[in-house]
Amino acid sequence: MMGRKIAVIPGDGIGPEIVREAQKVLDAAGKKFGFELDYTEVLMGGASIDVHGVPLTEEAIETAKNSEAVLMGSIGGDAKTSPWYQLPPQRRPEAGLLGIRKALNLFANLRPAYLYEELRAACPLREDISKAGFDMLIMRELTGGLYFGERYTKTEDGIRKAVDTLEYNENEIRRIAVKAFDIARKRRCKVCSVDKANVLDSSRLWRAVVEEVAKDYPDVTLEHMLVDNCAMQLVRDPAQFDVILTENMFGDILSDEASMVTGSIGMLSSASLNETKFGLYEPSHGSAPDIAGKNIANPIATILSAAMMLRYSLDLDEAADGIEAAVRQVLADGYRTGDIWSEGCIKVGTVEMGDQIAQRV
Ligand code: IPM
Ligand code: MG
Repeated sequence: MMGRKIAVIPGDGIGPEIVREAQKVLDAAGKKFGFELDYTEVLMGGASIDVHGVPLTEEAIETAKNSEAVLMGSIGGDAKTSPWYQLPPQRRPEAGLLGIRKALNLFANLRPAYLYEELRAACPLREDISKAGFDMLIMRELTGGLYFGERYTKTEDGIRKAVDTLEYNENEIRRIAVKAFDIARKRRCKVCSVDKANVLDSSRLWRAVVEEVAKDYPDVTLEHMLVDNCAMQLVRDPAQFDVILTENMFGDILSDEASMVTGSIGMLSSASLNETKFGLYEPSHGSAPDIAGKNIANPIATILSAAMMLRYSLDLDEAADGIEAAVRQVLADGYRTGDIWSEGCIKVGTVEMGDQIAQRV
């Protein structure tokens, strides 16, 4: 049997060890559900800088393009100590990640944030708030806005000045809005579009285009919320959200906040998609260089990202369900990595967590 082509970017920090566990779980799912994956390893971020001097090569982009999906760990190092951060900004590890998002046109970033019943103790919110539970999905625009607008730094009349530009056109807004409404239909049919329309022109256009798209989805309820209010609502009443639709920078900030209220950023998966079935799948968390190589990192976010890959890019829904159920079962059976551990649970390392989940697929 010919395996389905997957590019794998282990990356930096804890990346290689969490990706290894995700591959272990994918292989277990392959045996059970009858598919085979053919992995090609690709260097990106610091790992690529060390070998090629740049965080992303054309060859890496080609390998990704020739695959059905990309499974990624995390990239980047400690900005204070790593030599990678002595390089100019466009040669640092993060430039590789931004580069691959742009090169593959991965404009839709899906970041689900879900409170597992078993992890309620790890949720930092007051119990009267957390008891309602929550299950939201942040749909973050990923290839526009401040991240990709014109930027420069210069000195004018002896005064240093830096400029970043926030630009969106209606097509960029429309395509991400369509993704948000489509996915809301598969969930609880609610979209909350987040902007700063009381100040920004780009947000006023955002709001107008989202309203236009909403006309095609009479069954989906649309609400608009200002981003500062949304930051507050996420800790005041997270249960109110189903799909949060927002631009690149707001989505970056709100998704970290949303992940924290689930108890651990080590649990959250993500998918970055373009107009086709292709996608890049990575945990929402970073490379945690301080705990790399110690077998203590939580591999669940990466394992859940692998499940998303099976669902969205490979149409292996049953296998994706199988992996998600195995994760829930492992939590129900009391296994925890250090970040989500609480009294009475069984503390395990990265490898054992992968083993336990693979066994239950
Ligand atoms: C993320 C990260 C990246 C981003 C960084 C590493 C450039 O924070 O995926 O959220 O800001 O998009
Ligand atoms: Mg971020």
